[in-house]
Amino acid sequence: MPKHFTYKSLDDLRADVAARGLNIQFEDTIDRVLQPVQIGHRKIGNALGIQPMEGCDGDLDGTPGPLTYRRWERFGRGGSKLIWGEATAVDKDARANPRQLFLHEKNVKQFEDLAKKTRAGHRDVFGNDDDLLVGLQITHSGRYSFKKPYLVYHHPQVDQRTYVDKSNGILIDDDYPVVTDDYLEKLEDRFAAIAVLVEQAGFDFIDLKQCHTYLLSELLGARVREGKYGGSFENRTRFIRNVLEKINAKVRKDFIIASRINAYDGIPYRKNPVSGIGEPMPCDLPYKYSFGVDKHDPLREDLTEVKQLLQILIDNNVKLVNVSMGSPYYNMHVGRPYEKPPVDGYESPEHPLEGVERQFRIAGELQQAFPKLPLVGTGYSWLQKFLVNAAESNIKNGRISIASTGRGAIAYPDFVKDLQKHGEMKRSKVCIAVSHCTNLMRSKHNELGQFESGCVPRDPVYAKIFKESLKKQKKQKVDQ
Ligand SMILES: Cc1cc2nc3c(=O)[nH]c(=O)nc-3n(C[C@H](O)[C@H](O)[C@H](O)COP(=O)(O)O)c2cc1C
Repeated sequence: MPKHFTYKSLDDLRADVAARGLNIQFEDTIDRVLQPVQIGHRKIGNALGIQPMEGCDGDLDGTPGPLTYRRWERFGRGGSKLIWGEATAVDKDARANPRQLFLHEKNVKQFEDLAKKTRAGHRDVFGNDDDLLVGLQITHSGRYSFKKPYLVYHHPQVDQRTYVDKSNGILIDDDYPVVTDDYLEKLEDRFAAIAVLVEQAGFDFIDLKQCHTYLLSELLGARVREGKYGGSFENRTRFIRNVLEKINAKVRKDFIIASRINAYDGIPYRKNPVSGIGEPMPCDLPYKYSFGVDKHDPLREDLTEVKQLLQILIDNNVKLVNVSMGSPYYNMHVGRPYEKPPVDGYESPEHPLEGVERQFRIAGELQQAFPKLPLVGTGYSWLQKFLVNAAESNIKNGRISIASTGRGAIAYPDFVKDLQKHGEMKRSKVCIAVSHCTNLMRSKHNELGQFESGCVPRDPVYAKIFKESLKKQKKQKVDQ
């Protein structure tokens, strides 16, 4: 496949955007991205953040491991003023992989150390950390929980991509039970209890993860579910409203509550066996599943309910929202525009710039509808060093408050430091979007059932782990 990112200069990139008829703007001069932003009662020192990026490097009990500390400290030393800690399960069975972080009553101290070391790293380089926010994302992995899927509802196409036993290729069937209302009610209490632990551990904010088609995200689109958590918009938002009420009753008034949402779930794609390119799975119209999707044209967004959700979040004391989209399992090009697909993916059915534009368009419409709510934007990494030029324009034009990078940050955790020092990011350090971080996430064939994930092209620690994983895979194939 041709390499998409071939631009030598910002003008080359601008020309390609124009040729494709896309609306992505870039500023030549960087200023606003380095200015402070107000979030609740706190002010962060710049408008460049780090997205949650799981390293799959906890121990089997969910406690941060050596590479977790290393990653977070590098983020702390890098200069971003919003460090959004990764997906951390609320329960052992809610983990997406055996090494996902899991916060519980017995490891609060280690999470406290993680936040402290991140801040210490920041102070070491920048003198103080008063204008730094460090948060933690809490989650239930829902149908992607590694022990067994916890389904909110049956989605005929997504079910065809949901495994009960992945290693033996066994998919769920129509009789597979969905979680009960009673389970969800108890889970609300669990979320509230974990929120207290996040506060105790010294994080500045908690993120209730409602994105990427995990359990809370799936609930928002549970139109075909029966009972009090499904069907109407009111029922589909019952869980988040109840959780927020319960958390607000338990935490300090000034503890910041945030949420990362899917503003557009998109529809499931599969790999064309001949071309290798992703294609939408056939589905009936009007489309009756998912969140943020236009039911008459599900390849497009419909933000009506998304805006209603944002109003609910604001009414329930949420001070910060991170806008994301798509599913890493069934339409990965939507959430993470890439050059090369991950092992379980497909060649991108659209030019990555179209994915970038979708992210900016949707976040922009939401920010313009809620100009006082700080929104964090996603989908910047594919733009490599020019991501800051796009961020500058989006912020200047009121299309986002904070621009954050995910893959870009594990490749280049100190991009803000370089920007401050040299006025630009270094080409030699940027993410090149070849999906090896996801490939490592999908690599399960070691003693712990999970390899650690990080940036293979830019970080020698992960280049070594990647090599080991390939070697082991080869050996296992020979032994079979
Ligand atoms: C290896 C990997 C781990 C990720 N972990 C998380 C996570 O823990 N929580 C989350 O909300 N998103 C997670 N994401 C999604 C990223 O935060 C981000 O939305 C995505 O990579 C697109 O942004 P980017 O173009 O800046 O990379 C992960 C993505 C990758 C590739």
